[in-house]
Amino acid sequence: MRKILTVLTALIILPFASFAKDPEVRLDIVPYPQSVEIGKGSVKIAGAQFYCDPRLDSLSRVTVASLAGKLSLVTGKISTNVIGISSTIAPPQKGFVFLFDKAMEDEEYSISATAKCITVKASSSNGFLYAVQTIKQMLPTAVYGRKMAVSEDWSIPVCEIKDKPRFKYRGMHLDCARHFFPVEEVKRYLDIMAVHKLNRFHWHLSDDQGWRIEIKNYPRLTEIGAYRSGTMIGKDFGSNDGIVYGGYYTQAQIKEVVKYAAGLGITVIPEIDLPGHMLGALSAYPQMGCTGGPYEVWTKWGVSNAVLCPGKEDTFYFLEGVLTEVMEIFPSEYIHIGGDECPKDHWKTCPDCQKRIAELGLKSDDKHSAEDYLQNYVTSRIQAFLGNKGRKIIGWDEILEGNLSEGATVMSWRGVDGGIQAAKMGFDAIMTPNTYCYFDYCQALKSENENEPLNIGGELPIEKVYGYEPFDGMDENSAKHILGVQANLWTEYIEEPEHLEYMLLPRMAALSEIQWCDQSRKDFERFKTAIDHEFKIYDTLGYTYSKVIKGIHGYKN
Ligand code: ACM
Ligand code: ZN
Repeated sequence: MRKILTVLTALIILPFASFAKDPEVRLDIVPYPQSVEIGKGSVKIAGAQFYCDPRLDSLSRVTVASLAGKLSLVTGKISTNVIGISSTIAPPQKGFVFLFDKAMEDEEYSISATAKCITVKASSSNGFLYAVQTIKQMLPTAVYGRKMAVSEDWSIPVCEIKDKPRFKYRGMHLDCARHFFPVEEVKRYLDIMAVHKLNRFHWHLSDDQGWRIEIKNYPRLTEIGAYRSGTMIGKDFGSNDGIVYGGYYTQAQIKEVVKYAAGLGITVIPEIDLPGHMLGALSAYPQMGCTGGPYEVWTKWGVSNAVLCPGKEDTFYFLEGVLTEVMEIFPSEYIHIGGDECPKDHWKTCPDCQKRIAELGLKSDDKHSAEDYLQNYVTSRIQAFLGNKGRKIIGWDEILEGNLSEGATVMSWRGVDGGIQAAKMGFDAIMTPNTYCYFDYCQALKSENENEPLNIGGELPIEKVYGYEPFDGMDENSAKHILGVQANLWTEYIEEPEHLEYMLLPRMAALSEIQWCDQSRKDFERFKTAIDHEFKIYDTLGYTYSKVIKGIHGYKN
C-alpha cells in the first residue's frame, strides 16, 4: 500500500515539479495553449506504452488508441494501449498516461512531459482530442502522414502545458448551396476544422441557387430544387454556362456526416435559410410564394426578391414539416434559421401577406415597416415551434430588426454592430463579422487581387483576421453573451475543393487563435513563425493553402 501511495504521490507531484526551463526550445502550436513551460531535455516516444484510465469514455479511448496506432505506424515501433489504471494498479512512470480528471472544465486538458512519462489529463472527450492534437503538433509532421518515418526525432520536449479554449462556440460555416461539395469533401473540411480545434460546423444547406437536403415528405425539394439549369460565368451576371448543376445530401449521408463530426468533437448546426433565400424551395413548391410562381432555381448570384409567403398557413405547414425532419437528423441544440436579406417587395403587394399584417395589427413606425414586423412574426413562430421540441434558434443579425423573442441567438455578420447590439439587449451572440471572418473575401490586398484565384472581392489578409478582438466595443456584461466566433465560407465563386481549401487556409489557423486564445496569449509575430510548421502539416495532409503571407499568390502554379 505504501508503495502505491508513494507512486501516486509521485504522480501527483511530478507534473507540477519545477524544472529547468529551456529558452532554446520553441513550440509551434496553433492555436497556442494558455500556458506552456518548456524544460530541459525530451522524452522519447517511439514504442512508448499507452496506459489509459478506465474512466475515459469510449470516444476518448478511441482517441488514445488512434494515437497509439498512429505512432506505431510512423515510428515503426509498436505502442500498445493498456486500459486499466486504477488505485490497485499503479500507473506506470514511463510512456503515455491518460487520466480522467473531473476537476477539469469541459474541453480543458493538461500535458505534463517529464524525462520518461507523458501524463495527459482531461474531463471530456474533447479535452483528450485537443491534448492529442497538441501532442501531434509537438512531433515531426510525419505524424500526420501514413508512412513510416523511422529516422525522424520521435520525442517530445519536457514540458508542462495547461490549456482550455477561450470560447465554447468555435465555428466554421460552409455554403453547400451555391456550390455543392460531396460528402467526402465535407468530411475533409471537418478534418481541417479538427486540426484547428474548432467544434461547430454551420452547414448552409438551402438557398436561391439550390436546395441540398433530402426531405422525405417534400421530395420535389431535391428532385427540382437541387438543380439549376446553368450557372453564371465568372462575374458576368448576364451569362449562363447552360450546364445543369446540382446535387444534394440524402438523410443517410447527413447522418453519416453528423456521426463523423461527433467523432472529431464537432457539432453540426444545419441552416435552413428562411423566409428569404428560398428560391430553391419555391421552384419545387411555388404555392409557398406570394405570386405562386413559376419560379426557377437561380442561375446567378445575389438575392432573389421571391421569398416565402408568410400570409399563407401552408407555408408554415411546409416549414414545420421540413424542420421536423431536420431535427430528426441533426441532434444539435441549435438550428440556424437564416433570416438574412429578405426583400419585402412581394409582401407589400401580396393580399395574403397584407391580410396577415392586418390580422396581427402590425404597423409601420419610424424604424421599421409593417413587413419587417411580419418577418419577426415568422421568426418567433418558427422559434416557438422549435422551442417546443427543445431546440434553440440562431439567426443572422437581421432577426434583430423589430421585435426578437427571448432566447434567440444572433449571428453578427454585417460587421460587428449586430452582435454588439444583440449582446447589449441581453441576447446571446456569435460573432462572424464580414469585416474579419468572411473567408470568401480575397486574402491578398485589393491591389494584388488579380494574382489570386477568383473571389468575391474585398480584402481580408490573414493579419487582419488575426487582429480581430471579439469583445471590442462591448462592456463586461455584453461580453458574457458572446458565445464565440465563426468564419463563413460562401461559395458563389468557389467550385473546386482545392479552391475551397485555398480560401480556408491558413486563415482558419488565425481564426483558431481568436477562438481559443485569451487576448494576452495572442501574438502575431509568434503566430507568423509558427505558420511554417503549420504549412508542413498542411503539406503532409495534402491540403491546399495560400502562401500570400510569404508573398506567393495563387495555387495552380
Ligand atoms: C450573409 O452573408 N448573407 C449572412
Ligand atoms: Zn405573401
